[in-house]
This record gives sequence, structure tokens and C-alpha cells, in this order.
Amino acid sequence: MSGFTRDAHALVCDGVPVQAIAAETGTPVHVYSASVIDARYRQLDAALQAVPHRLHYAIKANATLAIVRRLRALGARADANSAGELEVALRAGFSPGDIVCTGVGKTREELARAIALGVAAINVESPGEVDRIEHLAAEARSIARVAVRINPDIDAGSHRHISTGHRATKFGMSVADATQMLRDMARRPWLKVTGLHLHIGSQITALEPFKRGAETLIALAESLADDGIRLEHIDLGGGLGIAYQANQPIVSVEEYAAVVMDAVRGTDLTVLLEPGRWITGPAGVLVTTVVDLKRRPDGGWFVVVDAGMTDLLRPALYDAWHTIEAVSPRPGEAIRADVVGPVCETSDTLGRDRALPPIEVGDLLAVRDTGAYGAAMASNYNRRPIAAEAIVDGGKWQIARRRQTIDDMLQWDA
Ligand SMILES: Cc1ncc(COP(=O)(O)O)c(C=O)c1O
Repeated sequence: MSGFTRDAHALVCDGVPVQAIAAETGTPVHVYSASVIDARYRQLDAALQAVPHRLHYAIKANATLAIVRRLRALGARADANSAGELEVALRAGFSPGDIVCTGVGKTREELARAIALGVAAINVESPGEVDRIEHLAAEARSIARVAVRINPDIDAGSHRHISTGHRATKFGMSVADATQMLRDMARRPWLKVTGLHLHIGSQITALEPFKRGAETLIALAESLADDGIRLEHIDLGGGLGIAYQANQPIVSVEEYAAVVMDAVRGTDLTVLLEPGRWITGPAGVLVTTVVDLKRRPDGGWFVVVDAGMTDLLRPALYDAWHTIEAVSPRPGEAIRADVVGPVCETSDTLGRDRALPPIEVGDLLAVRDTGAYGAAMASNYNRRPIAAEAIVDGGKWQIARRRQTIDDMLQWDA
């Protein structure tokens, strides 16, 4: 059995009872299904097969080495957003030519490292960054491969904190400003302009923003070609949304791929994508133990668990919904409960007013779809150690990252 299923009611991951994993690792623990990652990567790759494409897995979604290695083994490339993510990519076995570097505010050190390595493309965000790259490339006597991140002024329709393609955001450059800059860049000897980039947001559940974004890049690539500037690729970023709730309308991967393929058909451009959430989101659950039960004034319950916003920030940060289930549901009448963490913030609520089966202290709950922007966004707030991570593959599980100890956490303090 692959993915998350139920066996005599109890939650199972790729054939392994989630309870058995939690019994050994303790909680909170992130549990990942390798088969879900494999199947989703392959589905996206297959949907794009009619055009030359490269899938640069967005490491930020889940930067745990075992996950990143898995994606490399599947044939993915990588998108790194910091020196740390670049290092993760290298340690996962990616060669520099498989890595694109993105991000607002890359430091000199980060740029120098990317240039020295000879990454596939540095996605530049501003004229100042172009100058810094040129200077560093000349110093290193190494031609830097660069693409320009365009801000197409598109509302991605997702939560405003993760909409990155409208002009009021800090990301990318307008088409007009970028066009001028690209003409200038093409004349600079230490730069090789390889492509155009955009990333208009995350958890996008409509086709139109993707379509408009792709059309914007293609139109710009064509106008540059008229000026004799020939590009190798367009990079349409990530952003494809997943259904966090049953029946939530989303775009199918095939519809998404059709938009991408329509855009590049008839050109000789390779299309790059930077998917994160769509691949790893549904591949993970966060398993947590109920530590207390308290009555709410309105008669419902607070179910207090040992995982909180330090293990899964999305509900506190974006009011995001994650389905919450009992790992081994007890029979009986459902209760209504806020599932809350132990952190000293009211926003430390994993789910509000949920229907749950009868719950007792010590029961395990599973928070679904936490494989992306779950462990990757963990923090030590309230001096809470980072949770363990386990990956299940072919009916066997292993630790992907051991739980941080209090000594680990305190080792940097003077
Ligand atoms: C530049 C860039 N590429 C790719 C991604 C991955 O997006 P997603 O996980 O929505 O596919 C992000 C996420 O914010 C990003 O900033």
C-alpha cells in the first residue's frame, strides 16, 4: 500500500503504522512517504514530456537531505534560495550545473559561491545585483550565467503573504526596467544571459495567473530575440497549489502542464519549473501527542498537543488549514475542539473548531499535508527543540533527521 492509508482504522504510511514510528521516535515527528514523493514527481514530469523541461525542486519547501536526495535520484534539478540551501543541494549530490539560485538579497558571499561553482543560473533581482555579480565574476575570471527575475504584476490569488508577482512586492523587476537592463547585460563580457525567471506566488489554485505569467515571459523573450539576444530558457517558478481540504478546487497538474507547454511550443526555449509544495506537501504528516484536554467556555474542547507553531508555522502565519485526524480513532461521539500547541501565543493553534473522535490524553493526532513548509519553517521559539523526521520507503522507515536535543539547541550560546 502506498501513501497514507488506513488499516483497521489506524493510519499507515507506505505500509508502516504511523503509531509504530512515533513509539520509537517520540513526538512531534514528521513522517514522510517516499512513494508519494516519487509518484508526484513522476506525474509532473510526465505531464510535461512534450516539451524540453527541467524540474528544479524548490529546496525551501522541504530542505531535509533525505528528501532532497530522493528528488535528485528521481531526476530533479534544484532551486536554492540561500547559501544553506546551495550546500544542501551539493550535499544531496546535485552538480552545480543542475542548480539555479534565486532570492531577494543574495549576499556577496552567496553570489561569489554561486559564481565559483558555476551554477546553471543566478536569477537576478535588481540592477545593483547585476553589478555585484559582474564585479565578482570578473574577479573570479569566470563567466556568470544569469537570468532575470521578472515581476509581471499579476495577482496570484493566494494568501497575500505568499503572493509574490504583483508590483508592490519586493520581488523581481518590471518588464520595462528588465528589458533595458537585459540589453545592457548582453554587452557585459563576464555575464552570460541565459533566461528569464518569475515566481508569482505559492498555493495558486487557478490557471489564469500561470497563463499570464508564461505569456509575459515569452513575449519578452521574443522581443529580446528581435534584438539579437537569444535565451536558453524561461523559468516559470513554482506555485502549483494542493488541496488541503477535501473538495477544495485546485488546478490539475495536467491542466497546469498544458498552460506551460502552450507557452513554449514553437520556441526553442527549455522550460524550467521550481515546484516545491505540489511535490512534497501531501507526502508528509506531523504526528503529535495529546498532552492535555481543557474545556472551552462554549462547551467545546481545547486539545493541547506537543506540536505547535514551532513545528508547523503555516496555520499561525497564513491562517492555513491542515486536516487533523486521530491516528487510531476511538469509537464514539465526535467532539468539537481547537487543536492547540504549547507555545505562548494565541496564534499557536493548529486547527480551530474541528470535529474529532473522542480524545484522551496520550492519543496521537496526525496533521496532514505538512511535507512542504512544515519542518522547513521550524524554529526554536520558546526554546523548543526541532522535531524528528522519519521517511518511509518500501515498507521500512528510517530517521531522516533526528530530534534536536536541548544540548544541540544550546550549543551556540556563549
Ligand atoms: C523563487 C521560488 N521558486 C519556487 C518556489 C516554490 O513554490 P511552491 O512550493 O509553491 O511550488 C518558491 C516558494 O515560495 C519561490 O520563492
